[in-house]
Amino acid sequence: MLKFDVLIIGSGLAGMTLALHLAEHRKVALVTKRDLLEGSSTYAQGGIAAVLDTGDSVEAHIQDTLVAGAGLCNEETTRFIVEHSKEAIDWLIELGVPFTKDETHKTGYHLTREGGHSHRRIIHAADATGAAVTSTLGQKIKAHPNITLLEDHIAIDLITSKKLGQPGNRCFGAYVLDKQADEVRTVAAGHTILASGGAGKVYLYTTNPDTATGDGIAMGWRAGCRVSNMEFIQFHPTCLYHPHTKSFLITEAVRGEGGILRLPDGTRFMPAHDARAELAPRDVVARAIDFEMKRHGLDCVYLDISYKPASFIQEHFPNIYAHCLELGIDITKEPIPVVPAVHFTCGGLVTDLSGHTDVDGLYAVGEVACTGLHGANRLASNSLLECMVIGRAAANEILHTQPVELPAIPSWDDSRVTDPDEEVVISHNWDELRRAMWDYVGIVRTNKRLERALNRIKLLSEEINEYYSNFHVSNDLIELRNLVQTAELIVRSALLRKESRGLHYSRDYPDMLAEARDTTLSPGA
Ligand code: FAD
Ligand code: SIN
Repeated sequence: MLKFDVLIIGSGLAGMTLALHLAEHRKVALVTKRDLLEGSSTYAQGGIAAVLDTGDSVEAHIQDTLVAGAGLCNEETTRFIVEHSKEAIDWLIELGVPFTKDETHKTGYHLTREGGHSHRRIIHAADATGAAVTSTLGQKIKAHPNITLLEDHIAIDLITSKKLGQPGNRCFGAYVLDKQADEVRTVAAGHTILASGGAGKVYLYTTNPDTATGDGIAMGWRAGCRVSNMEFIQFHPTCLYHPHTKSFLITEAVRGEGGILRLPDGTRFMPAHDARAELAPRDVVARAIDFEMKRHGLDCVYLDISYKPASFIQEHFPNIYAHCLELGIDITKEPIPVVPAVHFTCGGLVTDLSGHTDVDGLYAVGEVACTGLHGANRLASNSLLECMVIGRAAANEILHTQPVELPAIPSWDDSRVTDPDEEVVISHNWDELRRAMWDYVGIVRTNKRLERALNRIKLLSEEINEYYSNFHVSNDLIELRNLVQTAELIVRSALLRKESRGLHYSRDYPDMLAEARDTTLSPGA
């Protein structure tokens, strides 16, 4: 058994922020299922929204967030996060993150614009902000004597007093599979933080990396946490459409800097859908693209920035330019083929402003959590901000609590399981689940499609749980079990919402109700 003061599951921006704030005073284990830098945070392109410019204001950022969130954002949470935005960026600058500079701007930095923002307020490192942030923080993590980094370790389930047959429900760490040694370890800790990211891989087409399998949401749910607003799955409007590339995002900043969406014949279509045209919030733009693709029977639409000077494009979007050029698309001369793809999980484990979940000693921070910031549709570039502000608040709270005495914890018991006989069960169910979610729980939903999805999920769930009970765990099996659990929560939440709001659009209930309510599910209810 490994013992720490704090166990952090996940090494994206949420996990890294917590680790660095806690490690001055606590012994921390940072467990991550691939290598340190693998996760959505590293792939973030556009940047981080923050009130940095004196011409901008906290009130304007809050207002934009509330408008995008379609009436469902928690105003107190939104205010808390936006008010701490400058402090969060100052911390990153202090740590040495190389944000793009602009000597002509009073902040000294270039601020870009994205859909739904009334001001230029996105600080960025060209078009690879996430990589600049996580590689800078990653170096500090690796060098810190109080942080034990366990790469290639995947958390299987949380250890709670309830599961140990003791009174109350407190978390004492997690069982973790060391993938290289193929051995399950008990990692015990007085405080445990789920910083495991979102669940984009529940769907067939997503901008998310392979790590985004909803593990934290499923683990938290199994441990007794409520989830909220799981039906709000954000589709990013512009994922590159090309047979030889996997989930490559074309940042919203391309539209922020003037990119225009066109049909194959060159017609601009966004102004007919919304007065904000290409800079409408994501739910509006993704739905408009979906509508045009279905109406004209198209495989994709086109995003055109080629009318800007080539030097401007190469300077602002060097990675996108290089990636597209490798595929034979010169974005300085021709439009980029794009389609919407699943991008962000707005719902998650219910937490307060310090990341507390319903289970004592268990926190959830980042995309795994539902703090109320994103409401029914996340405003672009608010996610990295949330990871840092709530991460710091959670760390502060943990630093102000007494160290916890750990109980005796039994080792992982695999005496009743054997080696799997047919691994095809995993790969088949993995594909079937993700296709069912794509076909039946997409941008436009109906009751019939959702019921179909739920029926499929129930069958898959039985089969996967039976397999899990009989065979040794593996990375893929752990992820599949979590994917099917998360999919069920998404569909059940979608069925409960009898209206269209933000990212949830139902043909059976096309109108928005007067009162905005969270969809909250409780385990065991
Ligand atoms: P992640 O960064 O996804 O990290 C999760 C970590 O948990 C990973 O290390 C993963 O390996 C680990 N993990 C998961 N399950 C387990 C387990 N069972 N055991 C151990 N480890 C586990 N947001 C913005 O604000 N601005 C942007 O410009 C932006 N651009 C984006 C571009 C792309 C392509 C994508 C996919 C997302 C983008 N987002 C952006 C959203 C944002 O990047 C994410 O919401 C944010 O990075 C989530 O951070 P996180 O720390 O919660 O999770
Ligand atoms: C993007 O760069 O378009 C992604 C920004 C985000 O998801 O917040």
